[in-house]
Amino acid sequence: MKIDIDITNKHYSNYIKYLMDNDSIDFPSKDVYELNFIKDKVGLKNKNNKSNIFIDFSDKRFSNRVKKINKKNEIFYKIFKKNNSTILDCTAGFGKDSFILSSMGHCVTMIEKNPIVSILLNNALKRFNNTSKFSDDGRLLLFHGDSLDYLYNTDQVFDYAYIDFMFDSSKKTLSSKNLETLKILTEDYNKKKELINLAIHKVRNRVVIKNHIKNDPIYNQKSDYTIYTKLLRYDIYLRKNVR
Ligand SMILES: C[S@@+](CC[C@H](N)C(=O)[O-])C[C@H]1O[C@@H](n2cnc3c(N)ncnc32)[C@H](O)[C@@H]1O
Repeated sequence: MKIDIDITNKHYSNYIKYLMDNDSIDFPSKDVYELNFIKDKVGLKNKNNKSNIFIDFSDKRFSNRVKKINKKNEIFYKIFKKNNSTILDCTAGFGKDSFILSSMGHCVTMIEKNPIVSILLNNALKRFNNTSKFSDDGRLLLFHGDSLDYLYNTDQVFDYAYIDFMFDSSKKTLSSKNLETLKILTEDYNKKKELINLAIHKVRNRVVIKNHIKNDPIYNQKSDYTIYTKLLRYDIYLRKNVR
């Protein structure tokens, strides 16, 4: 994978070099991608079609959606009923869901395991807080790492844990350019059930698992309840006490 770093982003180069040397940046067709650091922006470019992927929380399509959020049309109001709650987003990705939740007043801690996705997301958060007339008011926090490790080690008790693993690629209905890129960059996670089980025992309130409506539930125990939309299912598990 080619990485272009300009002079203002020199501090990134050792970190990226370390990741490359240790094979932490590894995904199929990685030679087709370029990670570009240009002044305050980090973009991911597909060399074949020259398209750049940026995460941009100020993008009109995105901010318009956030502006239109209200109790009738936003499914997250039905799911996260407690106001101003603390949420652990165990699978941050490009941060869309976390950003919406923070716009609703929740404090969201995002965990992202993929180094490239983490760099893009970290950069988007910085740009949003530095340049937009809005800011997340400190309600969005990002850590790069595995959320299973994080949950095992944190003393913080979150009201909710939110989990959105990559859907089966045969279900094409939810695709967008960013989602397609996320699919290419990230690998499947093989400790899904362990993560869900730990979360159920560690949250204060409940665990929410997003999935495609056509998929079976990921966890091997029946959810306490499920909320459906046209394309999605949210399997919800109440906290279980440790025996
Ligand atoms: C479908 S995407 C999440 C999309 C996100 N909800 C959004 O709104 O952009 C799944 C992401 O979770 C990450 N992931 C999967 N397992 C993880 C784990 N155990 N810890 C942290 N991140 C994980 C993947 O690298 C991927 O970026």
